[in-house]
Amino acid sequence: MSDPMARFAADREAAREAKDPMAAVCVLATVDEAGLPQARTLVLRDIPEGLAIYINASSPKWQQSQQQVAIQVWWPSIQIQYRIQARCEPLPAEHIAESWQLRPDVPKRMDWLYQQRPQSSEISDRDDLLNLLENINPPVPLVAPEGARGLLLLPEKIERLDLNQANGVHDRTRYVLDTGRWLEHTLIP
Ligand SMILES: Cc1cc2nc3c(=O)[nH]c(=O)nc-3n(C[C@H](O)[C@H](O)[C@H](O)COP(=O)(O)O)c2cc1C
Repeated sequence: MSDPMARFAADREAAREAKDPMAAVCVLATVDEAGLPQARTLVLRDIPEGLAIYINASSPKWQQSQQQVAIQVWWPSIQIQYRIQARCEPLPAEHIAESWQLRPDVPKRMDWLYQQRPQSSEISDRDDLLNLLENINPPVPLVAPEGARGLLLLPEKIERLDLNQANGVHDRTRYVLDTGRWLEHTLIP
């Protein structure tokens, strides 16, 4: 298949059908201010425009994701890994305003808490956190705070590794976007 995004979607669908819990998530890798690699699990969303992630702007990873990011997924149920390099485009505020309403209650309150205390900053202890959360006064009607953001992922390089081969030799393909066309290369696995 020469369209790696279609291939990714088909593989992900197979993983979902196999009830693979990893089908919902990805690992987002960025480079921090000190030049050090950082990786964390995020929910990987399907939106009409493509793949998206939701991030709070108070977290350092928001700044780290403004140019290039790497995303990795591994679906054990179908024995397939993808590694993706992507440019990121902030999702429009209208999109966030709408999709944010679908978040469960606690994540919504957390997003409001991040307005006072940045995500990933230190707090004295868990009791202090729970107390702060209890005393958050989000607006009524409840709307997304300014810091709730999202990124559309625009892949430029996609690598698929398929371990599920009868002869044991893994199948590895790299796709590179070249002036709007995907070029396909077979790699030594
Ligand atoms: C299954 C799973 C899903 C997660 N989904 C998200 C997510 O969609 N957005 C998010 O900001 N953090 C998500 N997290 C938490 C992140 O992995 C991370 O701990 C948090 O965002 C702080 O990252 P930072 O130190 O880079 O700011 C998820 C964690 C797990 C285990």
